[in-house]
Amino acid sequence: MQVGVCYYPEHWPEAQWESDARRMAEMGITHVRIAEFAWSRMEPDQGRYDWSWLDRAIGILADAGLKLVLGTPTAAPPQWLIKAYPDVLPFRADGGQWKFGSRRHYDVSNPQYLRECTRIVTAMAQRYGRHPAVVAWQTDNELACHDTVPSYSPAALARFHAWLTERYGEIDTLNRAWGNVFWSMEYRSFEQIGFPVQTPTDANPIHLLDFRRFLSAEVVSFHQLQAQIIREYAPGRDLLHNFMGFFGAFDHYEFAKAGLDVAAWDSYPLARTEVLPFSEAEKARWARTGHPDVSAFSHDLYRGVGKGRFWVMEQQAGPVNWGPWNPTPAPGMVRLWAWEGLAHGAELVSWFRWRQAPFAQEHLHSGLNLPCDGLSPGGEEAARVGRELERFPIAPVTAKAQVALVFDYESLWLFDIQRHGKTFDYQMLVFDYYRTLRQLGLDIDILPRDADFSGYKLVVVPSLAVMDDAMVERVRQSDAQWVFGPRTGSRTRDFAIPATLPPGPLQALLPIQVMEVESLRPTLTPSIWLAGEAGTAVQWREHVRATGNVPSEVQILAAFDDNWPAILGHRNVQYAAACFEPRLHLAWLEQTARTAGLTTQRLPDGLRLRRRGDVTFAFNYGEQRCEVPAPADAKFVLGGAVIDQGQVSAWRA
Ligand code: GAL
Repeated sequence: MQVGVCYYPEHWPEAQWESDARRMAEMGITHVRIAEFAWSRMEPDQGRYDWSWLDRAIGILADAGLKLVLGTPTAAPPQWLIKAYPDVLPFRADGGQWKFGSRRHYDVSNPQYLRECTRIVTAMAQRYGRHPAVVAWQTDNELACHDTVPSYSPAALARFHAWLTERYGEIDTLNRAWGNVFWSMEYRSFEQIGFPVQTPTDANPIHLLDFRRFLSAEVVSFHQLQAQIIREYAPGRDLLHNFMGFFGAFDHYEFAKAGLDVAAWDSYPLARTEVLPFSEAEKARWARTGHPDVSAFSHDLYRGVGKGRFWVMEQQAGPVNWGPWNPTPAPGMVRLWAWEGLAHGAELVSWFRWRQAPFAQEHLHSGLNLPCDGLSPGGEEAARVGRELERFPIAPVTAKAQVALVFDYESLWLFDIQRHGKTFDYQMLVFDYYRTLRQLGLDIDILPRDADFSGYKLVVVPSLAVMDDAMVERVRQSDAQWVFGPRTGSRTRDFAIPATLPPGPLQALLPIQVMEVESLRPTLTPSIWLAGEAGTAVQWREHVRATGNVPSEVQILAAFDDNWPAILGHRNVQYAAACFEPRLHLAWLEQTARTAGLTTQRLPDGLRLRRRGDVTFAFNYGEQRCEVPAPADAKFVLGGAVIDQGQVSAWRA
């Protein structure tokens, strides 16, 4: 369990580097990430490299005992490069191009840009790959951020055609799979296919889905290109990328397969809470703390993406600049967020950034230090974490949780393309299950559909758009309780309705058929009794019937007032034919968790728990002081039995 910081030596006078490095080390910081936007300093003119400043910066930081994470600078191609190759700039859907003057102004599909990236990454990796202080490499920075993937460029179109040809072989196969006979959309060759944009009404959903699959593959191969170079010249070093929270432009599990040792992510709890589709009341409530499950969700997801290894590469250190509103965090939160990352299994939590920059785009973005130097309020809290870590007993190992939650990028794309109801949002559906389980005090592993589910007592699949036999087999092999949410198995890989109706292949384990679906405006509220609570469905409901040879084998575990089943079950599999309001959701998942043999506890509002090895951590996001559920013989290693907002406690039982 270590802490780090993001630093930009090129922003500060060289005379300051030594004292910066010394003060970092004194604060308990062990890792420093540098260089990820510094291309114009590494290569001031085409082909003329200047490594001297970076040699000195690395030398000074290393001499202070700090370990370095080097970022490749490809998120910020310099002006000379854009002048030489203007088609590197991404194309918008309207055919116009983005301009130079900020960052991420490049098209991942542009072959010339791929050559330029290969060149700069090779030069950098050859120079620093075996440097003893350089322990890790980050490719680019937040790939696909600022909506810069997709690019609707001629280069991307040519690669999309190649991708489609590879997938379908013959144009008639594509026509059939896409159902192009509908509205005369048939093509005679792959070259006739355009981007699925600027159509008077909906584009064909499978055209949109294949485009998203293609874009995901483009991002993955962009990373892979750099990953291969880094592997060659920087043997034994950790390879990572800094992902974002609640971001699904590409399949992160596929990305990890392309070469990744650590899944790192950038955590900005306040701005993230502001931009997620929470109610105004929830946003107001968590404005200075962040929603208590928002960062935790990404910690648990990225621990899964990194197969157990994750870092927080950028952790909010005070107010930021990019939310619709950017308040200062409540006292204690900068420290709390860091401990929370560590409790969820992070090997490293690294703050963004060392010092607030008095110039350029991020003036109003805090750092650990004020622009004039001297710690900011967040910096003081970070220093406290550094001191606490020195005294913290041996880092507890992260164990497998008892609950697995499946998060699937293809489902995200599919439901994004076809929401059917204004408020249906796959990420928020998954998040609702996640937060409900956390309110019951449970630890959760977020995993891909093809994970190893052995050892879990409860596996929750909020929805999985495309069911297949392999997934059915995983359920069949498992003795966990399985919960599937609405819209599971509702589409084939080609975005068609399964021939036997949804949930498609899942019918082998649960013989039911979804006959019709309805999205619910807020005034439509089918009512129900569920797990001893009265309440309503929200957003979505399905009309489901039991089928098969022995329909009575299917148990109707709860039904709506108008008699349509709400929860159907058979053996260890349950299917929810709706989304439920929070109270009902809680009561039902509590009942299911207990059936699975789990011990649950309803936590006070705003309090959350997470276990790491034999240490249990408690975090208070709420306004009320509260008592933590520690046993009488608990030995506290942080805080105590009662904590206020922004406080943390941790104990060994
Ligand atoms: C991240 C990015 C950083 C910085 C930060 C500000 O998205 O990686 O470079 O811009 O946001 O919050």
